[in-house]
Amino acid sequence: MMKKVSKGMKMKMLMMVLMVAVVTEAKEYMKYKDPKQPLNARIRDLMKRMSLEEKIGQMTQIERMSVSPTLLNKHFIGSVLSGAGSSPSPKASAEEWVKMVNAFQKAALSTRLGIPIFYGADATHGNNNVYNATIFPHNVGLGATRDPALVKRIGAATALEVRATGINYNFAPSLAVCRDPRWGQCFESYSEDPKVVRAMTEFVPGLQGDIPPASRKGVPFLAGKTKVAACAKGFVGEGGTVHGIDKNNTELDFHRLLSIHMLPYLDSIRKGVISVMVAYSSWNGKKMHANRDLLAGFLKHKLKFRGFIISSWRGIDRITDPPHSNYSHSIQAGILAGIDIVMLEDNLTEFIDDLTYQVKNNSIPMSRIDDAVWRILRAKFTMGLFENPLADLSLVNQLGSQNHRELAREAVRRSLVLLKNGKSANQPLLPLKKDVRKVLVAGTHADNLGYQCGGWTVEWQGVQVSDPIVGTTVLNAIRKTVDPSTQVVHMKNPGMDLVKSQNFSYAIVVVGEVPYAEEYGDSTNLTIIEPGPSTIRNVCRVVRCVVVIISGRPVTIEPYLDKIDALVAAWLPGTEGQGVADVLFGQYGFTGKLARTWFKSVDQLPMSVGDLRYDPLFPFGFGLTT
Ligand code: BGC
Repeated sequence: MMKKVSKGMKMKMLMMVLMVAVVTEAKEYMKYKDPKQPLNARIRDLMKRMSLEEKIGQMTQIERMSVSPTLLNKHFIGSVLSGAGSSPSPKASAEEWVKMVNAFQKAALSTRLGIPIFYGADATHGNNNVYNATIFPHNVGLGATRDPALVKRIGAATALEVRATGINYNFAPSLAVCRDPRWGQCFESYSEDPKVVRAMTEFVPGLQGDIPPASRKGVPFLAGKTKVAACAKGFVGEGGTVHGIDKNNTELDFHRLLSIHMLPYLDSIRKGVISVMVAYSSWNGKKMHANRDLLAGFLKHKLKFRGFIISSWRGIDRITDPPHSNYSHSIQAGILAGIDIVMLEDNLTEFIDDLTYQVKNNSIPMSRIDDAVWRILRAKFTMGLFENPLADLSLVNQLGSQNHRELAREAVRRSLVLLKNGKSANQPLLPLKKDVRKVLVAGTHADNLGYQCGGWTVEWQGVQVSDPIVGTTVLNAIRKTVDPSTQVVHMKNPGMDLVKSQNFSYAIVVVGEVPYAEEYGDSTNLTIIEPGPSTIRNVCRVVRCVVVIISGRPVTIEPYLDKIDALVAAWLPGTEGQGVADVLFGQYGFTGKLARTWFKSVDQLPMSVGDLRYDPLFPFGFGLTT
């Protein structure tokens, strides 16, 4: 039954309702959620509200297999990654990726403060964990193009293919200056010459967009929903380790460290790079993950880098030898050195509990945690993640799009380096004729997309077959290019007599290295895989041949060079093998120039342009034209 209420009483009630509304509104107004507020005010407001637990969550990045949305929500985790090859299912579609990333994002948004996550992956030559992505040439090939504008366009295309899968953070580019091709990561480096690597930092604005001209130095930048956060890696000197051994020690004085390895970082900071990843390597015996002078001191204070520093995969574990033998020490040394986000594979609670304990007992000062969280939040606000946290499906068609494949094909054409053309200058073999009777295509690498793409494709170590990759092999490209009347015969490793008996007009022999990554790629002999050398011998002795080398670096070729009529370095071209045929058959000329010195024998190594003792087979900058 309705109670009868007096007029005065009504007024009172109305007032009360109004007051409650005002109070609720005041309670609900969260400054940090207001995009009209200045950036620093938003960060300050959010930081004031955060507990230690929430702050430490922001400093944690965990591999997607080791965390569920529920666990992410429980620990306030700020960042998830797909480690190499870590995909929601084999050949997962862009839609599946978006759904998976969004499930994590929604779990983050439903925490008390609703801070969105970074989702990170290594899209180092296209969105290479993802089925049907365009795979661009690895950096060693891009260096040979000497074309920073092309590299920037590849960055922009990569950003679109990455966003197509809901991912907002890319662990690229590598800014390593590889000084020794025996290093297993050399293919991720644009060049042995810091000038070339510096120029190629255009990949950063490709991924993130162009920083506005009036921006303050060192301030991270992102141009919106079609761009992704970049990561300059691995800081610093990892391309200079002794004997090219991965994760080893770089022995150099500070001046040489600066002049050879540091400058590309300075360039990317100027271009607004959002993050920097620490190298596994040491500098003069000190692990970079524990190097406070270079991380907190040089990178953050001297270079005025305002983005965040992320550790490498299990990187802090390796501060001790053996790795993970004193994890508390690793955490303390890494965080005090200036690392803001720690990348974990699986030891989530071990990390969180230990870091929490160390902050509570003052082994790590709160000011260090606040510095880290400030930087992380700055990046998240800058990226617009608070306003646009969830991915939609509007970009899924960007994945492996025709435009991007055309761009990759162009990059392949530009990256090829012609090292020899004819046994004498007046007998060039290239460009090849399209309308001949019969051509031989031989070699282990002629028809294998896995080999063509190299490491960091589908899997960390790459794959050795074509099936999980969508693209065009060199063999198929040749078939599409020659005259319809020309017969193309494919034999992997034919005997000499067989080749002799077939009356080929010429042969194309495609050989090289098998895919690898990191320490698995370290090599002391740099040979092409068997039976490559015998294929070269058997074929080139009896028919005019062009040898195309698919490799992540210069390989031992001198012993066969006089038998070969023409020699092309194709590096790791990726999915668009048509780019190789475009140039072999003369639709386009050869323009690539070596961004690495090609040695005669491995005992000359390390040998880089500018060295006093410099006696290469082909010097840095070499490249014939057609
Ligand atoms: C690699 C980095 C990579 C990271 C995350 C490390 O092992 O060296 O290049 O970004 O893993 O996948």
